Amino acid sequence: ATIHDQKATRGNGGELHQVAQGATPVLTTAQGGPVADDQNSLRAGERGPTLIEDFHFREKIFHFDHERIPERVVHARGYGAHGFFETYESLAAYTRADLFQRAGEKTPAFVRFSTVAGSKGSFDLARDVRGFAVKIYTKEGNWDLVGNNIPVFFIQDAIKFPDVIHSVKPEPDREFPQAQSAHDNFWDFISLTPESMHMIMWVMSDRAIPRSFRFMEGFGVHTFRFVNAKDESTFVKFHWKPKLGLQSVAWNEAVKINGADPDFHRRDLWQAIQSGNFPEWELHVQLFDQAFADKFDFDILDPTKIIPEEVLPTKPVGRLVLDRMPENFFAETEQVAFMTQNVPPGIDFSDDPLLQGRNFSYLDTQLKRLGSPNFTHLPINAPKCPFQHFQQDGHMAMRNPVGRVNYQPNSWGEGPRESPMKGFRHFASEEQGPKLRIRAESFADHYSQARQFFISQTPPEQRHIADALTFELSKVETRVIRERMVAHLLNIDETLGKKVGHALGLKTMPKPAEAAVATRQDLDPSPALSIIER
Ligand code: HEM
Repeated sequence: ATIHDQKATRGNGGELHQVAQGATPVLTTAQGGPVADDQNSLRAGERGPTLIEDFHFREKIFHFDHERIPERVVHARGYGAHGFFETYESLAAYTRADLFQRAGEKTPAFVRFSTVAGSKGSFDLARDVRGFAVKIYTKEGNWDLVGNNIPVFFIQDAIKFPDVIHSVKPEPDREFPQAQSAHDNFWDFISLTPESMHMIMWVMSDRAIPRSFRFMEGFGVHTFRFVNAKDESTFVKFHWKPKLGLQSVAWNEAVKINGADPDFHRRDLWQAIQSGNFPEWELHVQLFDQAFADKFDFDILDPTKIIPEEVLPTKPVGRLVLDRMPENFFAETEQVAFMTQNVPPGIDFSDDPLLQGRNFSYLDTQLKRLGSPNFTHLPINAPKCPFQHFQQDGHMAMRNPVGRVNYQPNSWGEGPRESPMKGFRHFASEEQGPKLRIRAESFADHYSQARQFFISQTPPEQRHIADALTFELSKVETRVIRERMVAHLLNIDETLGKKVGHALGLKTMPKPAEAAVATRQDLDPSPALSIIER
């Protein structure tokens, strides 16, 4: 940037008036009216009251008063960048999605990285999950792969999402802690929710404090479907692998960095991209069919489980490069609206109950946050392919049907028409059974993969997990909650459980938690579920 002299004059009170000259544009109101003086409001007399007639003052303050929109209910703190996705090879055998048909095809993309629990102004290096949300502007509409940097999730059913999030956010009476899972409410919920144990192992591991967004993996988490032109379906799991490799910082480093520079991750991404150091990820898929899925003891619809890469290696299918920062943070990163239900023809959902619930939640929350059903008119959310429909009006409509026709069928030969061949056809999966509120027994093993994750870690990484659990649980004031957690840990790995139990000063080790079997009879209250007397 160059700094050059601008013509300026001083007013009566010594205030600076920078005056437009030459090519410098004239400051205007939002209505386009040129402004003569932006330093002083209109007064009755030199020292008198401000006049309500001052439309420039009123417009400026009114607009400022309305600058804030609700922050995201989760993932409030985030940072985004533009780039592209490049397809390596045709995947036509598996999917009819246009973006996967031709090797070398480049499709524009926008990515937003985020933390989950903290507010918009919280620090970057919290021990937390990171969001890895990708919007790919395909020729058949936007595909949003709204993932995280951890391949599993806390809960199996979307109906528990408000509970897990309430428990991790600041407590309702005291409104703390901010961006910290080290508190009674969180561990109370977790200790009562054994399905969260696998996720907890990841969150307590070094994975939860990335060195930068550029060294982070991403996961679609759920099992999705690819559907090809013959309407044949293949299950698919999506993984983003960073070209720079996976790197984290240790907890004591994170604490220092958070104090010294709470913007550490966003500054890193900004500097890397501005200096031409474009971060890159490979998209990998795990592809499998129903017969393969049926071989596992766990359910491929259960989002607390991974399909081990040793059993089913991943296949690289493309790369994502981020090469341009937004021009305006609010317009792009804040207003971008990711929605899991944004899928092009050829990519479809599985019956994962978490994914099914997300498909409702994101549309709903975007209306609340962005304020109008026309949020799709915002440039960051609008498709980059031709699009035409008969939706109209509403707040801030910037794109309405042109001409006479705003319905169909119609006799005018105008406007868009359906296309059975090109359009999205939901995969015709066979569904049957009684209508029930129930969790399938195939979702009941909560410890095996938690154990596998723990023992797959190197000794220093295992130590970090034990230290993180000890630190977090030492902040928990209620003894029963600590004991309940240690009981779960003993079931995951006896050495880990004992180590944390001793470090917490437990006088006697609790019995390992019983591995639950999710049948209806198990709904009887067990001692572990008793209410804590306050
Ligand atoms: C936001 C991922 C589960 C509701 C987000 C974002 C990500 C994400 C990455 C931030 C998007 C952005 O950067 O703008 C995930 C993953 C999940 C999960 C990977 C599980 C595998 C859920 C569930 C629900 C939910 C179960 C609700 C039923 C929301 C909501 C937002 C959000 C309401 C805020 C969206 C906004 O205001 O833009 N999620 N989420 N999420 N998620 Fe999820």
